[in-house]
Parts: sequence; structure tokens; C-alpha cells
Amino acid sequence: MRILVAGGAGYIGSHTCVELLNAGHEVVCADNLLNSKYESIRRVEKITGKTIKFYKVDLADYEATKVVFEENKIDGVIHFAGLKCVPESIQVPLKYYQNNLDTVFVVMQLMKEYNVKNFVFSSSATVYGDPKVLPLTEDCEVGGTTNPYGTTKYFIERILMDMCKADSSLNVAILRYFNPVGAHPSGMIGEDPNGIPNNLVPYVTQVAIGKRPYLNVNGNDYDTPDGTGVRDYIHIVDLAIGHVLALNKLATGSGLVIYNLGTGNGYSVLDIVHAFDKAVGRPIPYKIAPRRPGDIAACYADPAKAREELGFVAKYGVDDMARDAWNWQSKNPDGYGEEQ
Ligand code: NAD
Ligand code: UD1
Repeated sequence: MRILVAGGAGYIGSHTCVELLNAGHEVVCADNLLNSKYESIRRVEKITGKTIKFYKVDLADYEATKVVFEENKIDGVIHFAGLKCVPESIQVPLKYYQNNLDTVFVVMQLMKEYNVKNFVFSSSATVYGDPKVLPLTEDCEVGGTTNPYGTTKYFIERILMDMCKADSSLNVAILRYFNPVGAHPSGMIGEDPNGIPNNLVPYVTQVAIGKRPYLNVNGNDYDTPDGTGVRDYIHIVDLAIGHVLALNKLATGSGLVIYNLGTGNGYSVLDIVHAFDKAVGRPIPYKIAPRRPGDIAACYADPAKAREELGFVAKYGVDDMARDAWNWQSKNPDGYGEEQ
């Protein structure tokens, strides 16, 4: 299939482009490079030996995005485009609502005009809010989001459900990611955050490379085995393969489907720190700090539905995640560097 990867130059998008090309799909990528570099696309081409047709385009701009649909016969869209920084979303909510929703509106409108039926959407475990039961199945209550970023995901899920009700020919996969981490084993592509990382793993790798003195472990008084927050970390390559499997499902005329993409295993912040101690070969310095506002104690998936219906099985463990994240960071201390 010829797949439009919206936001494909970003962290998850670039890894998904690799897996799509490896699976024999053609990739058209559209990204305004707001939070990414074109270098990621060059490197995907190097890894796979295949080419990507790239458009630098704001997907909230209807006219500009129309060119992509006009010039390419698209069979399906994977929609990664969006802003994802939780604290920023609290400060500038309108920017988040506008960008995250408008990009979906424009792409869905053009899909209708160009008769494209298959759509994969990047949602997040954040739609479950503070879980009442664990592990989380897809039937668990959603909507208790605690920040505008999470609320954009919840709203978009609802909009997609309404669209599928109105048009039974649409096939939509909502993928609720747990915590994607790590990098492609080649060390050529990986996560390249701007400024101070908000998320645990990029912060740890920056401590390991010497850019930051120590990690703040946010809270050791949660009701978890060691008191630190527990999450379901999933290797980015496993997550990327989940998108290829979701496309296969859509191709069967699935209608609306929703899947958790996680491993089903919960690891604490200190478990992750210790996995990095091993990967890096020396202890990662850390200090216990106050809880981060809005954080939950524990969150992990029941991955059974994705396993049964997609054949999705995460094959990498936390030691692989730490090894590959460190491989990427140590080979690329400044990420993709400045754009040429
Ligand atoms: P990312 O920021 O690396 O990638 C998003 C890409 O979208 C970037 O390349 C950015 O330039 C592009 N983009 C943003 N707005 C755009 C616009 N208006 N027009 C064109 N391109 C635009 O983020 P990521 O980690 O790869 O996440 C991809 C998607 O998955 C996002 O929607 C994110 O909310 C979601 N998600 C991510 C995580 C995570 O932990 N990384 C977890 C759950 C869900
Ligand atoms: C966060 C977002 C979530 C988003 C996801 C991916 C919040 C509340 N949630 O998830 O919506 O989908 O990122 O972008 O921001 N930690 C530390 N020290 C740090 C950083 C993190 O101890 O410097 C801890 C956190 O308290 C948490 C764990 O590490 O227990 C994971 O944090 P993080 O990587 O930010 O992911 P989430 O908070 O799960």
C-alpha cells in the first residue's frame, strides 16, 4: 500500500517508516518539521535502502495538504502529527487544541475527497486518566484526562468514533500507546527532544552522556513495590511494527478498532535506572525529588486484544530498550544536530 505518514519525521513516525518500508509499503511523508529534523528521513532511507517522498507541509493547512493527496494515490494514513508536551499544553492549551485537532480535521476531510478509507491514529494511555483497575483493557473508562494534551487525544477518539458511525466504509484504528522508549538497533534514528526532556528515558540518557548531572526521581512514596512510579515501557521498534499490523487489520474492512500497544509489564522508575546502569556500564546518578504534579502511581496495559486480533507481541524487554536508547544517545550526543 502507499501510506501517507503524517508527522513521519518525528520519533515514532520515523521508526514506523522503517517498518513500513521493510514490510514492502510505499511511504509518502508529510511533516512541517516543527518538532523534528529532515535528517531523520535521510537516515530512514539509509537504514532501509529505500526512498521516501517527503513534503514539508503544515497538515493544519488544507490547501497545502491537498497537494499531497493530489500528487499521490494514498491507500491509508497513519497520523502522528501533533504536539505532545504535557506541561506546555497546560500553559498554551489553545495551541494544542488547534494543532492536534485541525491536523486531523484537514486530513480526514481530504481522505473523504480523495476516497481514502484507512486511518491509524496515535492515541495514548493518557485517555484512561488515573486507572481504577490494572491492567488496563480497551474497555476501561476513558476521559478522566488531567491536561489539555491528553484531552486532545480523548476528543479526537470521540470524533473518530462519530465519523465511523456516520460512514461504515471508514476503517479507523485508534492505537493507545503506553510508554514508547528506545531506538532503532542501528543507532541511526532515535528520540531527539528539544531542550530539557520531560520524559524519563531521554532524561536518563542525557544524564548518562554527561549533559545533566543527575536524574530527579519524582516521588518514592507511591503505592508501588519500590515507591516510584510504574509504567508499561514499550520498545519503539515493537510499537512501530504495531502500526504495520494495524494497517493489515484495516485492510480487512475492520471499521473502528481500538488497541492498547503496551507489553503488559510494569516497571518502576528505579527498574529503568538500573537497566541503564547495566547498559551504560556505570551507575546513573539520581536524587529523590517531589512527585510531579498530575502523575499517577501506576499504569500498564492488558495487551491481549492486540495479540489476539493483530498478532502483536512485543519482543523487546527493558534491557533491550536501555541498550538501544544508550546506543542512539552515545552515537548521536546532539541528536540529529543542526539541520543542514
Ligand atoms: P514527535 O513530536 O517526535 O512527532 C510528531 C511529528 O508531528 C513531528 O515530526 C512534528 O514536526 C509533526 N507535526 C506536528 N504538528 C504538525 C503539523 N501541524 N503539520 C505537520 N507536521 C506536524 O512525537 P512522537 O513521540 O513521534 O509522537 C507521535 C504521536 O504519538 C503524537 O501524536 C503523540 O501525541 C503520540 N504519542 C506519543 C507518545 C510518546 O511517548 N512519544 C505517547 C503516546 C502518544
Ligand atoms: C507522559 C505524559 C503522557 C504522555 C507520555 C509520552 C504526563 C503526566 N504524562 O507519560 O501523557 O503520553 O509522557 O509523552 O506527563 N519521571 C521521573 N523523573 C523524570 C521524568 C519522569 O522520575 O525526570 C518518572 C515519572 O514520574 C513517571 C515515569 O518516570 O513515573 C515516566 O514518566 P514519563 O516518561 O514522563 O512518562 P509518563 O508520565 O508516563
